Formats: sequence, structure tokens, C-alpha cells
Amino acid sequence: MELVFATNNPHKLQEIRSILSQHFELKGLKDICCNEELPETQPTIEGNASQKAFYVHKNYGVDCFADDTGLEIEALGGNPGVMSARYAGEQCSFEDNMNKVLNEMQSIENRKACFRTIISLIIDGKEHQFEGRVDGIILKEKRGEEGFGYDPIFAPVISPSNGEMFKDHMELSFAEMPLEEKNRISHRGRAVRKLNEFLTANFQSLPQQKR
Ligand code: IMP
Repeated sequence: MELVFATNNPHKLQEIRSILSQHFELKGLKDICCNEELPETQPTIEGNASQKAFYVHKNYGVDCFADDTGLEIEALGGNPGVMSARYAGEQCSFEDNMNKVLNEMQSIENRKACFRTIISLIIDGKEHQFEGRVDGIILKEKRGEEGFGYDPIFAPVISPSNGEMFKDHMELSFAEMPLEEKNRISHRGRAVRKLNEFLTANFQSLPQQKR
């Protein structure tokens, strides 16, 4: 069964292909000749995921899904949240965004934060949403070279090896973990596994010609 992931990011495509069942042939936007910017004008990550997925479904007539992610910091009232990609301005870099967060958090004791990913799937014209979340803390400085975005300043509070809460405050940042470890506990990994369970339970056994 073919399914379009509304992204042009080859890393995300690769990551999600490695989690989704082999029964689903995952295509990116380029594969359906969609070269336009998708609209992302909603005030929530739920709204943005939905908006992108419906846009592709309506304009290209395919079963598809889209994702949207935000870093939510308790002491900043949930910011950067839906503004995570451009927190420090329209053309900002990952460094600019992290520096802005570190500055705003300089004298703040409460370091609690979470990453949330919403996946919106449109299949047979109906929408289904899946949420993945990982709780953590904002470190006082950047650590590690792996990953992207806010990874160097975010440390999950659960262990990637057994999924349990850290008792001894290991505080490894996402950027200090190999990608497989991060994926095991990350917001996106969790949302994609929920998507995979849903697809496998509801669509895997349908004969190809019915789709
Ligand atoms: P997107 O919705 O996946 O494009 O994510 C929006 C923004 O959230 C990105 O530009 C990153 O700054 C941040 N972000 C998303 N996922 C991650 C992650 O796994 N680690 C660190 N930052 C992330």
C-alpha cells in the first residue's frame, strides 16, 4: 500500500521508513511532484499537522500523513511550542534558537520541558491523529554533536536502554546519543510507532486492488 509522507526532509523519510511496516510503501512530496511550500499557519502543532496533511490529500488525491513538532518549556509558558522552527526569527539557525532559549532560561530554576510530535493521517478521506511525547529538562549549556534542532540543550528524563526514569540524573543530551537510542524514546519515534500500529491493525491485510 502506498502512503505519502508530507515532507521534503530525506532524514525524516529515512527514519520513518525504518519504523513503518514493509507493507507500506512510503513516498515523499518529491515522488508526487509536489514542490510547493505547504501551508503551516495554525496556532497549534495539532492544527499545523492537520493543515499540511489535508492540503496534500485535497490537492494531490493521495492517502498521506504530515507531522509537526514543538519543544514546550514549562517556565516559558509552553514556548517555543508551535514556533520552535523560527523562535529567534524567520531566517534563524538552530544555534540562534538554542541561544535564545538559554538566555531566557538563565536565571530560571524550573528546567522542565517536553518535545511533542503530532502526526495527522488522512486515509480514505478520514483524519486520525497520533501523539508522541518525551519529557526532559533544558540543560544550562549545549552538549553533543549528534542530531539537530534543540538536541544539544535537551536531556530526556528517561533512559533509552530500559525506558525507565533516570534515578541518578544522567542528563545525557539528545545530541550525545546515537540516533537509534534517541529514536527509541523520542517524541517522533513514539508517534510513528503509534501510526504503524494503527496502519498494521487496520490496513495491512487489505488486498492491494481494494486500495
Ligand atoms: P518539525 O515540525 O519537525 O519541522 O519541527 C519544528 C522544529 O522543532 C524544528 O525546526 C526543530 O527546531 C525542532 N525539533 C523537531 N524535532 C526535533 C528533535 O528531534 N530534536 C531537536 N529539535 C527538534
